[in-house]
Amino acid sequence: MKILAIETSCDETGVAVLEKDTTISVISNVTATSLAIHAKTGGIIPENAARAQVEYILPVIIEALLKSEGLELTDKKTDFKTSREILKEKIDAIAVTSGPGLIGSLLVGVETAKTLSYTLNKPLLPVNHLLAHIFANYINRKADEVLYPFIGLIVSGGHTDLLLFNSPTDYKWLGGTRDDAAGEAIDKAGRLLELSYPAGPEIEKRANTISNSSVKFHSPIINEDNFDFSFSGLKTEVMRFVQKETITEGLKNEICFATQKAVIDVLIKKTIKAVEQFNAQSILVGGGVSANQTLRNQLTSKTTVPVLFPEKEYSTDNAAMIGAYALINPEEKKWQEVTANPELYFSNT
Ligand code: KG4
Ligand code: ZN
Repeated sequence: MKILAIETSCDETGVAVLEKDTTISVISNVTATSLAIHAKTGGIIPENAARAQVEYILPVIIEALLKSEGLELTDKKTDFKTSREILKEKIDAIAVTSGPGLIGSLLVGVETAKTLSYTLNKPLLPVNHLLAHIFANYINRKADEVLYPFIGLIVSGGHTDLLLFNSPTDYKWLGGTRDDAAGEAIDKAGRLLELSYPAGPEIEKRANTISNSSVKFHSPIINEDNFDFSFSGLKTEVMRFVQKETITEGLKNEICFATQKAVIDVLIKKTIKAVEQFNAQSILVGGGVSANQTLRNQLTSKTTVPVLFPEKEYSTDNAAMIGAYALINPEEKKWQEVTANPELYFSNT
């Protein structure tokens, strides 16, 4: 089965073509980003993101379809015609992120997918972006490496959640952040240190230049007996520290180390607690923060169950994970019933 997947929940316009045989493989994966626009504003302005997506969506779909057949871009008219033929002849279904996310951005992807589904008579599969972060782990991996029940940890710029999965469709939400998400806390610390947005990769790079730091920040609610997180206090702690110190490059690296450590320590502690409590057989991590190698190394070394992370290019937002989720859980819906839902969360809890 071959699927066209579309992801436009935040600032990126992603389109991928995937195939499911014995494993799920990505045949093409194209992403256009408006990051340069957001780097200038130090964060995402929703209307700017959606305006860029309206411009990018068709060219990105066309490019992904052409690439899926090993074809290069030529001229606009030919590319449009060829890609339409590929979609008609070679693609079995269309998957699209229906939420959560920014309403303007989601609408671009959802309305485009609905139009393609209707005009070419292809099944339409709406996908929850958060669950897709977890199912990115199925890409290029034998399905039997995912041992159920597993604990799913979603750590992105907008969400931090722990879930228990008994099967791909039977899951329970255990807890999540009460305020800022893990990635959001990292980005806010980055902004205080005048790092480029999003700050995760640079915070990791700077933290990696040292092996310890005299600067220490608290891991919020690490000792509470629940599966919740809270990261807004960390931002305040970093802000107070930055305001009273003279920030040299060396101290910046120490602050990055301490921020990363404060976030990672609580993520690991609560994930392992969930594994023990529910006798989980594996851990699947997803979301932009899961690209962090220190989190990968430390979580893996602190538990005896297998810990799965997506390949790094599928950790941050991408369309391939949307296709992977739809290939594992193909839940077709009539195009008339598919709507963009910015508040979509976990229905099966
Ligand atoms: O999943 P994602 O691409 O978008 C959302 O759905 O939010 O996650 C983006 C977040 C940002 O906060 C970014 O700073 C963080 O992931 N991030 C990282 C790393 N790479 C991206 N955080 C820590 N270490 C990284 N290497
Ligand atoms: Zn995401």
